Amino acid sequence: MILRPFEFEDLRWAAPLAERCFSPWDQGYGQQTADWLAQDNIRGWVATAAETPLGFVLLGAWGVPEGVQVWEIVLIAVDPTTARKGVGRSLIAQVLRAVRTEPFVREVRLDVDPTNAAAVGLFQQAGFTVQQENAGTFSGGQPAVRMAWRPKHRSN
Ligand SMILES: CC(C)(COP(=O)(O)OP(=O)(O)OC[C@H]1O[C@@H](n2cnc3c(N)ncnc32)[C@H](O)[C@@H]1OP(=O)(O)O)[C@@H](O)C(=O)NCCC(=O)NCCS
Repeated sequence: MILRPFEFEDLRWAAPLAERCFSPWDQGYGQQTADWLAQDNIRGWVATAAETPLGFVLLGAWGVPEGVQVWEIVLIAVDPTTARKGVGRSLIAQVLRAVRTEPFVREVRLDVDPTNAAAVGLFQQAGFTVQQENAGTFSGGQPAVRMAWRPKHRSN
C-alpha cells in the first residue's frame, strides 16, 4: 500500500467513493468532498495498491486564538471491498505523522456517529478518546460524538 497526498484528479474516484461509503446515513458526500478540497485549509492523503485507489482521508486546520491550531479529520472513506485490511489505520497514522511535524498543534478532533462501530473502533485504536458525548447532529440527523487525539509532548 502506498500513501500519497490527495491530488485534484483523485476526485474522480474519491467523490463516488465518499457517496457510496456514507449512503447508509446521508447523500451529498461526493459534492461535499469536492467542496472541502476547494478550501485552502483542507488537505488529504490517499491510499493506493498497484495504482488502485483504496481510500482517502481529509484533514482540516482551524486556527484559534493564541496561534494554536486545531486539526479536524473531516472525512475518511475506505473502499468496502478492502474493509478491515488496515487501510483506515494507515490513513489515520499518516494524518498523525503529518500533524506531529506542525508547530502549535493542540489536538486532532472529529465527530462520529456513536453507532458507527467501524469508525469508533478505528479512532479508539489510534488513540482518540471521547471529549463530548452530545456534540450535535450530522446533516442526516444522526447524533455526533466528539473524539480527539492530543500529542503527548505538548501542554498547549
Ligand atoms: C471506518 C473505516 C474508514 C474503517 O476503514 P478500514 O480500512 O476498514 O479499517 P481498518 O482495517 O484500518 O481497521 C482498523 C481498526 O478499526 C476498527 N474497525 C474497523 N472496521 C471495524 C468494524 N467493522 N467493526 C468494528 N471495528 C472495526 C478495528 O479496531 C480495526 O482494527 P482490527 O482490525 O485490528 O481489529 C471504513 O469502515 C469506512 O470507510 N466506513 C464508511 C465511512 C465512515 O464511516 N467514515 C468515518 C466517519 S467519522
